[in-house]
Amino acid sequence: MRMTTIGGAVTTLLLAMGALGALHGCATAPADDAVAARAAASLKSSFAARGQAGLQRLDQDETQKLCSEYANRPLPASVAEKIQQANLATIRYPADGKLVGDWKNGEKIAQSGQGFQFSDGPSLYRFGKLRGFTDETRKYAWGKVYNADAFSACSNMPRFGHSAILTEQQLRDVVALLVDPGSPVNQ
Ligand code: HEM
Repeated sequence: MRMTTIGGAVTTLLLAMGALGALHGCATAPADDAVAARAAASLKSSFAARGQAGLQRLDQDETQKLCSEYANRPLPASVAEKIQQANLATIRYPADGKLVGDWKNGEKIAQSGQGFQFSDGPSLYRFGKLRGFTDETRKYAWGKVYNADAFSACSNMPRFGHSAILTEQQLRDVVALLVDPGSPVNQ
């Protein structure tokens, strides 16, 4: 299941509930959906909302459901396309059109471990230099950081903007780390 550590807890709970059902020798075992709903409700009752980390984080959206479904088998091209289109539609660009902030702050964010870390992904060394310091590169960097699934379905990369892991200003700063010619990424 694709929900980071919470996913692990859900899986454990599901397994435990399945095992319980088997022990009790249920003649009418509940359908998978019913078990999943009970597990989710039980899980939710043991968490409290804290700041921007609301309980909606425990709800799987359509993308997460599909990616869980295909976690252990090849993702068909048509499903990948559907996921990417749906995620592309979620990307919000700043109202003032300013996509690039302060790379120094971006570096701190990327290394802080908030929503995993920069170094958990592929190397982005010379990202701006290689792609060109253009509007197109800046727009792509914003979109990718905002919602990685818009460009590669079922990406391991967190959807930093879509999932409200980073604020708009933090997104700008992280984008700056990628695309500012003065950023250490581009030296
Ligand atoms: C602030 C942190 C991060 C930034 C700024 C960032 C940025 C990016 C960008 C711009 C790309 C596209 C590279 C290209 O098209 O050449 C990318 C790709 C990727 N990133 Fe991240 N990333 C971050 C964190 C992470 C984390 C935490 C993970 C994994 C846990 C991750 C996993 C990946 C993967 C697997 C790709 C390859 C394409 C894909 O499957 O989505 N990234 N990242």
